[in-house]
Amino acid sequence: MRQQTIDNDYIHRPDNRKLDHLPGDYGKPLIGYTFAMLKDPFSVFADMRARYGDVYRFNTTFQRMLIVSHPDYIKLLTLDPEQIFSPRMGYHGPLKDFFKGGLLMRDFGEHRVHRRIMQTAFKTDSMRRYVEQMNPIIASQASDWSQQNDFRFYPNIKKLLLDIGANVFLGLDMGADETVKLNQSFLDMMAGSLALIRKDWPGLGLVYRKGMNGRRELERFFIDLVPKRRAVDGTDMASYFAKETDDNGELFSDEVVAQHLIFLLLAAHDTTTSVLTMTCSFLAHHTDWQDRVREELASAADKGLAYDDLPTLTHTENLFKEVLRLHPPVPQFARRTVKDTEIGGHHVPADTLLQAPVLYIQRMEEFWTDPHNFDPDRFAEGREEHKKHPFQWAPFGGGAHKCIGLHFANMLFKCVLGEVLTRYRLEFPEGYEYPSPIQHFPFAKPVDDLPLRLVPLR
Ligand code: HEM
Repeated sequence: MRQQTIDNDYIHRPDNRKLDHLPGDYGKPLIGYTFAMLKDPFSVFADMRARYGDVYRFNTTFQRMLIVSHPDYIKLLTLDPEQIFSPRMGYHGPLKDFFKGGLLMRDFGEHRVHRRIMQTAFKTDSMRRYVEQMNPIIASQASDWSQQNDFRFYPNIKKLLLDIGANVFLGLDMGADETVKLNQSFLDMMAGSLALIRKDWPGLGLVYRKGMNGRRELERFFIDLVPKRRAVDGTDMASYFAKETDDNGELFSDEVVAQHLIFLLLAAHDTTTSVLTMTCSFLAHHTDWQDRVREELASAADKGLAYDDLPTLTHTENLFKEVLRLHPPVPQFARRTVKDTEIGGHHVPADTLLQAPVLYIQRMEEFWTDPHNFDPDRFAEGREEHKKHPFQWAPFGGGAHKCIGLHFANMLFKCVLGEVLTRYRLEFPEGYEYPSPIQHFPFAKPVDDLPLRLVPLR
């Protein structure tokens, strides 16, 4: 491979906004396509592609960028053989203050060294233990759900997954004051990362300020936690991270481990919340699929699933894939060029923001039959529609930054459904109109938080 010299100054340079030589348009003055995207991103991307081709300039959330709209470009951006595409600068705008130092915010050689910090935490033995730790938490919380009036799936799954995170990721006791406080700091931070007014000013009640306070609180807590985890033989992710060493055999500093833990919580939480919420919405409507998956899960295990049961669940697996295809929790992959390059025959200057809209690419008619329809069997043996292009289905990305938690997400998905579907039949409340409006950004979920009637089965 050609030797590349990477100019590290790229992290200090502003975004390149000179894209007028490229096909495309910026939409409305200033706001560009922001509101159109919030309403119906699929139509916006389909329309732009029909007018301008696979590579076009665009403007959304006040940023000028290049959209690269084909599986070939997901491959190019994620495999990045010439080290041209920086995730750190791609995600710099939305994530820099809250998730600095996280794995996706580190590029190239530095990223490779830091990814080691997570290696033991995601090995098979560790994963096997997480299943054992998770199942009782899921069973205990799900058993209380039917007591609630006006049950909404989204806030309940969010709470359940926060509690699982505190236990499995951080080794904390459930329900302890510190867990409740940490979960709140995390929620504040997530809300802050989406704030429109991005000022860390005290006294004005700004959401952003509250979010930054949440981040500072988490940092303090984790920096204190790391040495304690080094001293014990824990089986939570924080314990594994704390003991990992770099290429020279040196431990990572407490601050660095804390940064990775904060990012891990972000990467794991809303993604899994989104896919489980969208799944239960589909299942409440497609009751044939609800029955089919319930039957499969029930026959695999009657007392919580074991790690070895998970690969045998083919219908559940195809369901997972289909929901991730229709509503990928990371809807667009962001990068920024570190130097001039060429994409699809177009000159792309250094420091240009790029986005690959995986949410649109996974619904392209060239690759999928009736792409907007829910049809998990498209992944089943005999059809295997996903095998035309290695990147036509890429909800977990690819290359060096490919999601490190993809097996964990898969496991969590199956364990939660294993409990929920064998305990309840999911129905919409009377008069519910399906499909209900979906919020697509930052993570897909029904706007109404998915009200459900849970009919006990045991
Ligand atoms: C269905 C759930 C999930 C989806 C769809 C998902 C998707 C992704 C995607 C697309 C990326 C790469 C983004 C890019 O290249 O621009 C990523 C990275 C990452 N994910 Fe996930 N994720 C999920 C769950 C999880 C979970 C449960 C964890 C941890 C337990 C996790 C940890 C991470 C980390 C640490 C990275 C950064 C990897 C790196 O930069 O090397 N994710 N995820």
